[in-house]
Amino acid sequence: MNTTATPGPVPARPKLTVIGTGYLGATHAVAMASLGYDVLGVDVDQSKIDKLASGEVPFFEPGLPELLQEVMATGKLRFTTSFDEAAEFGDVHFICVGTPQLHGSHAANLEYVESAFTTLASKITTPALLVGKSTVPVGTAARLTDMVQMTSPNPDLVQLAWNPEFLREGYAVQDTLRPDRLVFGVQSEWAEEMLRAAFAPILEVGTPLVVADLRTAELVKVAANSFLATKISYINAMAEVCEATGADVNLLASALSYDDRIGGRFLKPGLGFGGGCLPKDIRAFAHRAEELGVGQAVAFLHEVDAINARRRMRTVDLVRELAGGSVKGKRIACLGAAFKPNSDDIRDAPALDVADMLRAESADVVVYDPEAMKNAAKAYPQLTYAETFSQAIKGAEVVVLLTEWDQFRNADPEMMGELVAHKAIVDGRHALDATAYRAAGWEYRALGRPADVKTVRLSEDAKDKVTV
Ligand code: UGA
Repeated sequence: MNTTATPGPVPARPKLTVIGTGYLGATHAVAMASLGYDVLGVDVDQSKIDKLASGEVPFFEPGLPELLQEVMATGKLRFTTSFDEAAEFGDVHFICVGTPQLHGSHAANLEYVESAFTTLASKITTPALLVGKSTVPVGTAARLTDMVQMTSPNPDLVQLAWNPEFLREGYAVQDTLRPDRLVFGVQSEWAEEMLRAAFAPILEVGTPLVVADLRTAELVKVAANSFLATKISYINAMAEVCEATGADVNLLASALSYDDRIGGRFLKPGLGFGGGCLPKDIRAFAHRAEELGVGQAVAFLHEVDAINARRRMRTVDLVRELAGGSVKGKRIACLGAAFKPNSDDIRDAPALDVADMLRAESADVVVYDPEAMKNAAKAYPQLTYAETFSQAIKGAEVVVLLTEWDQFRNADPEMMGELVAHKAIVDGRHALDATAYRAAGWEYRALGRPADVKTVRLSEDAKDKVTV
């Protein structure tokens, strides 16, 4: 690629398309339109597009429905299923389609990414930058560059760049509008200028920018998610050691968090990570590293994954212990289904995994989640779902907190105690006040904490230092 190649002038306000309107794409489209860009959202799923076009967000994401309606009223955002329309409309095209784990392998499935890039490239006849945002194995962007050049009727007019996305579900709007950094993986000055124009309002407020080559940009994303997963599994490995020694992982994490080199964020022990990103990204990264002959360098990611899986099994062990050695026929209330609070995403959700393991041991499992029940019932039809929190815990022999929604965190242990059959609770997310539960007569257990822990001697600021 010629680094000085200029397919055309750089518009002050490029017109944007966003291909793929899932969590990432829909949020990106809405956020960019709210910054004043003309945006066209594109998806092959007609029902998703119809919903979005009518001002409805097809998933749960706080703040997004309000912002969608606001921008729809300005006329800055439209939706379509037509790639012809997208090709004609856009100066910068953001490709935000999914890269799920391949069935029967740890590798990423790249068919949607490849199809989005080549379909678009085959139709573009004016200068355009195709920007990948999806999480891909390092080396994919270089391969896609070749594919785009081969498919395009005007290869000189089309360039490819990579711009990894770091948004978290539940905070998607704020993470998109006020990211902690931007990363541009580019092959020419023109591509960098196009991206600078596409992100001008975000750069103007001083957002740090790293301009890199394609490979580094691809790697930043998987390296970041691997680090975060490792940090969570690190503290959960310490929880295992605490369990063997009678130490308390909560206090340990707080004490560690005061060391600024370690920090308290993503040091929250418990049931571990799930979702559509961290689990599949560390597996795909390890798989790609093996292909590249550097599998050993990230072999620890297999251990990170294994520690994470053990937390789920250990949670089931604790429930079994509280149930008196067997859960068979016992009513167990599972609080939470989503992989984390403020999301209805149940991909690789630790909560549902635990609920299903308990069901497999013939427990009478009832699941309740404030937002994720519809998705959960579709993926786990074998589980029973309660319509309300109270209904879920009514008559329970053991309650297990699996997703730390505010509704569960703020629940009154006295009120709960009146509904359950036995006051026994497993706090899978270290989200409850053990002292308050014990005072209300509950048997309280949490991973990595001794069974007889009575008081938590934490100063007020220490209580907020360890966070997700
Ligand atoms: C993650 C990353 O945090 C984002 O930066 C990234 O952009 C995104 O993946 C992605 O690749 O698209 P997300 O999947 O929304 O974001 O969820 P996280 O907030 O990272 O939480 C992941 C899991 O870790 C949840 O199940 C959460 O309960 C768990 N967790 C998190 C812990 O168990 N302990 C912690 O201290 C933090």
